[in-house]
Amino acid sequence: YLGAFVHSVSLQELEICPCGAIGVDEEGVIRFVERDVDGDTGRVYAKHEQWKGASVVRIQGKGFFFPGFIDTHTHAPQHPNTGLFGQTTLLSWLTTYTFPLEASLSSLPTAHRIYSNFVSRTLSHGTTTCAYYATIHVPATNLLASLCLARGQRALVGRVCMTTDMSPDYYRDASVASALRDSQASIDYIRAIDPHGAIVRPVVTPRFAPSCSTECLAALGALAHSTDSFIQTHISENTGEIALVRDLFPASDSYAAVYDAAHLLTPRTILAHAVHLSAAERKLVASRGAKIAHCPASNTALTSGCAPVRELLDAGLTIGLGTDVSGGFSPSILEECRQAIWASRFRAMCDGDAAKLTTGEVLYLATRGGAEVVGLEDKVGGFEVGMEWDAQMVRLGEVPVPVGLMGGDESEHEGDAADVDIAELANRGVDAPQTEPFRNGPVDV
Ligand code: GUN
Ligand code: FE
Repeated sequence: YLGAFVHSVSLQELEICPCGAIGVDEEGVIRFVERDVDGDTGRVYAKHEQWKGASVVRIQGKGFFFPGFIDTHTHAPQHPNTGLFGQTTLLSWLTTYTFPLEASLSSLPTAHRIYSNFVSRTLSHGTTTCAYYATIHVPATNLLASLCLARGQRALVGRVCMTTDMSPDYYRDASVASALRDSQASIDYIRAIDPHGAIVRPVVTPRFAPSCSTECLAALGALAHSTDSFIQTHISENTGEIALVRDLFPASDSYAAVYDAAHLLTPRTILAHAVHLSAAERKLVASRGAKIAHCPASNTALTSGCAPVRELLDAGLTIGLGTDVSGGFSPSILEECRQAIWASRFRAMCDGDAAKLTTGEVLYLATRGGAEVVGLEDKVGGFEVGMEWDAQMVRLGEVPVPVGLMGGDESEHEGDAADVDIAELANRGVDAPQTEPFRNGPVDV
């Protein structure tokens, strides 16, 4: 692959290589990464004789390669509700909008429509790896895993567990025993369709502490251990939720302690939100090696709060970004990057300038950070020898420019905006060129 590439080297360093070459073998594994390549002469081949005759993809001047985005937390069944919040906050939003929609996925044709659309949608936004919550329904959960496998999207797919009367009668596990049985059935299915977990892997998914009894949480901790599975759940998203957890689990010191007592805090645990964790909870989560999915769009939409990402990073926590559809209003991790920057700037108004996240930092969270959260840091999130070629191509230079605004002979330009001096257009009092029509329109599920 010849052309520009951009990727995060560390939280502090975003590498921008204007003319590179990445050699990818037939298995999709990166075998060399060259910077400073002459695209015309192909000088790189002198150094890599054995690659003579390899097929070449050239993108010089058209855009750049960037690692595929990693969405560390989203709810596939909630896609049709994107943007619906009214005046609700988390607990009323769940009962008003979320549970009724999720219950409708007892119908497999409905699940197929929603899930195939959502997988297409996340892929269209460059998400090559995604941690999905499904619903309590085993057939629909298994279908989501099959769709991810068929589309080649790396995924963690979790059947949601919810046994308490926090959930309505019409959408609840019948018992802890049946929740366990159904979770095991979904794990078995996913392991059967992808035995090595190359693309899809199961994830044990207690919805959140209020949805599960102490017995249920402990049983799910044991299930994750016995099946060697990832775990995902929500933590400390909203102050009303935290008060509810305090009431429901009076013997526990904190929300994090509830999960810890059930052996649910492990190096393969993804905790969504962590907006209001105490210093002691941060320390506990970090000491267990559990990871955080930061979901700023959702936290703003449901008025949950602004997660203190700088403090979480300083506490040594590993963080990725999550769209949290439909608490979050977009399936795009790039949008989540913007929202992470904005949320950090709201924090900065109280905490000081150190709270501000940079563009480089949020792009790191969207790729390398997310890869660590889902346990794929050796495979995806950056361009290194030995890692998988898991990339998106970002196209540039295809912005249509209104006729009459370009200098010189317009026939030479043929609509290519790369030569247009935007500063000059601004000086002439003309809006910058528009991008292509916004494709993220109403969802046709
Ligand atoms: N907490 C429990 N369930 C949910 C959910 O579906 N979305 C969000 N954002 N938080 C939750
Ligand atoms: Fe969520």
